[in-house]
Amino acid sequence: MALLALWVVALLAIAVVNTSAQGVLDKDLDYLLLGLQKNKYQIWEDGRRTPIEYGPNSTYFEWWYFDGVADDGTTIVYAVYTAQPYGTNRPVVSIQITSPQGQTVGALKQFSFSDGSWGTSYANAKVGKNYFRSTGGLDTYQLFCDPASMDGYGVNLTLKANLQSWRPATGHMGIFVGGPYFAWFVAVPEGEVTGTFTLPGGIQKTFKGTGYHDHNWGNVNMAVLLEHWWWGRGKANGKVMISAYLTGSVLSGYLKGPLLFVADADTKNILVSEYGTDNVTVALAPKITHPDPSYPRTTIDGGVKFTSSKGYVVNMNSGSPLLLSVNLNSTIPAILSITGLDKLLNIHPWYTRFASQPTLKYPNGTTLSGIGTLEYYELVW
Ligand SMILES: *[C@@H]1O[C@H](CO)[C@@H](O)[C@H](O)[C@H]1NC(C)=O
Ligand SMILES: *[C@@H]1O[C@H](CO)[C@@H](O)[C@H](O)[C@H]1NC(C)=O
Ligand SMILES: *[C@@H]1O[C@H](CO)[C@@H](O)[C@H](O)[C@H]1NC(C)=O
Ligand SMILES: *[C@@H]1O[C@H](CO)[C@@H](O)[C@H](O)[C@H]1NC(C)=O
Ligand SMILES: *[C@@H]1O[C@H](CO)[C@@H](O)[C@H](O)[C@H]1NC(C)=O
Repeated sequence: MALLALWVVALLAIAVVNTSAQGVLDKDLDYLLLGLQKNKYQIWEDGRRTPIEYGPNSTYFEWWYFDGVADDGTTIVYAVYTAQPYGTNRPVVSIQITSPQGQTVGALKQFSFSDGSWGTSYANAKVGKNYFRSTGGLDTYQLFCDPASMDGYGVNLTLKANLQSWRPATGHMGIFVGGPYFAWFVAVPEGEVTGTFTLPGGIQKTFKGTGYHDHNWGNVNMAVLLEHWWWGRGKANGKVMISAYLTGSVLSGYLKGPLLFVADADTKNILVSEYGTDNVTVALAPKITHPDPSYPRTTIDGGVKFTSSKGYVVNMNSGSPLLLSVNLNSTIPAILSITGLDKLLNIHPWYTRFASQPTLKYPNGTTLSGIGTLEYYELVW
């Protein structure tokens, strides 16, 4: 508890000390302490980064995420988690397959602690027979979801990077190295995806398209650090866009953390790599009705527009089609629901994912439109 109090004080300091970087650890000393280099990425950065700790009190979490869109519009999201929900020590494998018509099917399975094994020198997250594995540094990955343990849903996909990895500075958000943090590493900003996916009944289909893989981890319940975030990615005429707009928790004074990455997958040129409100301006589009009638707040922002200091504008629209809408109320700490404080404070953690049709506007006004995904993750309210 004393440690927690210390952390809270540290978090409060984020808003005061670190406002220009918006909580992103980006000092030379931060790189040194974390063993990271600027604009250079090491294979172990995608290996397991948190200690393997068993027990109800483990504070670590980590996941490897992939999403891909096939040429025919089929979308697949596949992820492997070390512990989900937070604090359970139960590894999770999750898969969602959305048809070109917009219908999502899939499975989310909790496994036992002993079913998980984790590589630290490269990505090799294995849970039961399911895995998320690097087979060639940060360039090639093999993703396997075993239909026998996942209600008949499966994938066997190869992801080959078209761009080198990326992170905003050290990718660590917090106040100092060793304090509470949330970290992010975009191992594959964009790559080519080939392989197969399986539907119940053993129906196997081929998949060929564009994909993305990132990796998140941390040492404290994310809701302590973050209130909500928008995150989106897409591709337009060979240009890759990754954007996020994080809002810190009440403890950080709702600190805003925008970031934007734009790169050319053909020439490999990075056009934008910026973070912080000094560099990236964000505007939310007027609210629309949330397509899920059970969504507690009825309306949601119609999209997010990111303008970089270099004049590039990325616009990610929300709304249609809806890929996923999940009530996360099981993550509400029991103490809040028992005392009724969750109702009083109107706490409704929720996860929404849309297919998006993002646009990229060049400083000279030329505008490209493409395809992508956009998520709104409400950790607290
Ligand atoms: C978890 O924490 C509780 C409360 O501090 C303690 O009683 C318990 O022994 C801990 N469990 C483990 C496995 O460390
Ligand atoms: C998965 O795909 C790889 C590469 O195409 C292939 O070598 C492997 O046999 C496949 N695995 C299964 C279980 O089908
Ligand atoms: C963001 O803005 C700050 C303050 O103007 C600047 O020092 C920093 O280099 C910028 N960083 C990036 C990655 O754009
Ligand atoms: C979560 O939401 C479901 C569906 O609205 C409801 O039945 C359940 O009681 C809620 N649980 C908590 C802990 O609020
Ligand atoms: C704007 O810039 C892009 C990228 O350099 C270029 O491809 C395009 O032709 C330019 N458009 C105009 C109208 O100059």
